[in-house]
Amino acid sequence: MSENFEPINPELVPKKKLRSGDEIPAIGLGTFGSDFYSKEEIAEAVKDAIRLGYRHIDCAEVYMNEKEIGQAIAEVIKEGTVKREDLWITGKVWNNHHREVEKACRKSLEDLGIGYFDLYLVHWPFPNHHAPGAPPDARNPDSKPFSVDEFMDTWKQMEALVEKGLTKNIGTSNMTIAKFEATLPHMRILPAANEMELHPCFQQPELFNYVVEKGMQPIGYSPIGSPKRPERDRTDQDAVDIEHPIVVKIAERLSVHPAIVCIKWAIQRGQIPIPFSVHRSKYYSNLANAIKDPLTEEEMEEMKKVDCNSRLIKGQVFLWEGARGWEDLWDLDGKIAQ
Ligand SMILES: NC(=O)c1ccc[n+]([C@@H]2O[C@H](COP(=O)([O-])OP(=O)(O)OC[C@H]3O[C@@H](n4cnc5c(N)ncnc54)[C@H](OP(=O)(O)O)[C@@H]3O)[C@@H](O)[C@H]2O)c1
Repeated sequence: MSENFEPINPELVPKKKLRSGDEIPAIGLGTFGSDFYSKEEIAEAVKDAIRLGYRHIDCAEVYMNEKEIGQAIAEVIKEGTVKREDLWITGKVWNNHHREVEKACRKSLEDLGIGYFDLYLVHWPFPNHHAPGAPPDARNPDSKPFSVDEFMDTWKQMEALVEKGLTKNIGTSNMTIAKFEATLPHMRILPAANEMELHPCFQQPELFNYVVEKGMQPIGYSPIGSPKRPERDRTDQDAVDIEHPIVVKIAERLSVHPAIVCIKWAIQRGQIPIPFSVHRSKYYSNLANAIKDPLTEEEMEEMKKVDCNSRLIKGQVFLWEGARGWEDLWDLDGKIAQ
């Protein structure tokens, strides 16, 4: 791992073109600190990461650190490292604000100290929410299964944000093919991107291909397999990407941490990884390695074998009374679970 933290020229970082024509950097920095890192540590990492060449930051109101990240952004703009338009800032409306999307968006923009988002997402397609730190088996009595009408009401508010100039692009997250099939035909502005769990042990080929075919850019969250995810998101069956023998073997060839193999694979496959870390050597190395030493064609082929359908972020806290289990959130039989 390089200890020479020479800033990376952002021009060297590949970009992906969205249907709007806007170009989004092919790697971003995650900002969800789980239960481990403080808002200040995360904001400090954002500031330093921008100085080191990151231009894409993945934010969300539910991460409860937008004010601190806003101060970090203000600082790097003030010192002249970047201009607002050099940055790609993604935001997300949380589940309890589906009926007041504009208010939530304006609050996030104010906290972040920016006039517009580059991309604003519906974080989850349900209005269901849970108390912070809720145990995995907690059920909120107000939770409901997915409703096309309710989602479309939320989406119309998202479309209005584009018209008001509050965001340049809108998108979805945690969707399924069944939910897209039921909602895409009713949209005036189609999603520019879909943020979804994507890492070598969870490649979601069917949804990935669907998203690409429909002209959406896949953004891959938990790209390293979220080794520090909260306890509530862990089960004994979960696969560990950075310990998989194929990933480890490629890492040895390149003399890098297996996390780097996950990132290279993601970029070469076509999704945009948004790895998280507050540790300089890690976030620097993720960016520095994104622009060199690609995996070979044979390695990319071998990486397909790593997929074992191991979903880590199951979302069980969003289940409604009467739901069978977390699988109901993901429409595994191709029908929207009710
Ligand atoms: N849309 C959604 O619903 C959703 C859901 C989940 C996540 N997200 C977004 O996706 C981002 C990333 O996901 P994530 O945080 O769950 O998982 P992740 O990026 O797969 O894993 C993060 C962990 O990987 C470790 N790591 C990072 N770079 C490394 C490197 N070069 N070498 C070794 N270890 C490394 C870090 O360990 P250390 O802590 O020890 O540095 C960090 O805690 C989040 O921060 C958030 O912005 C979105």
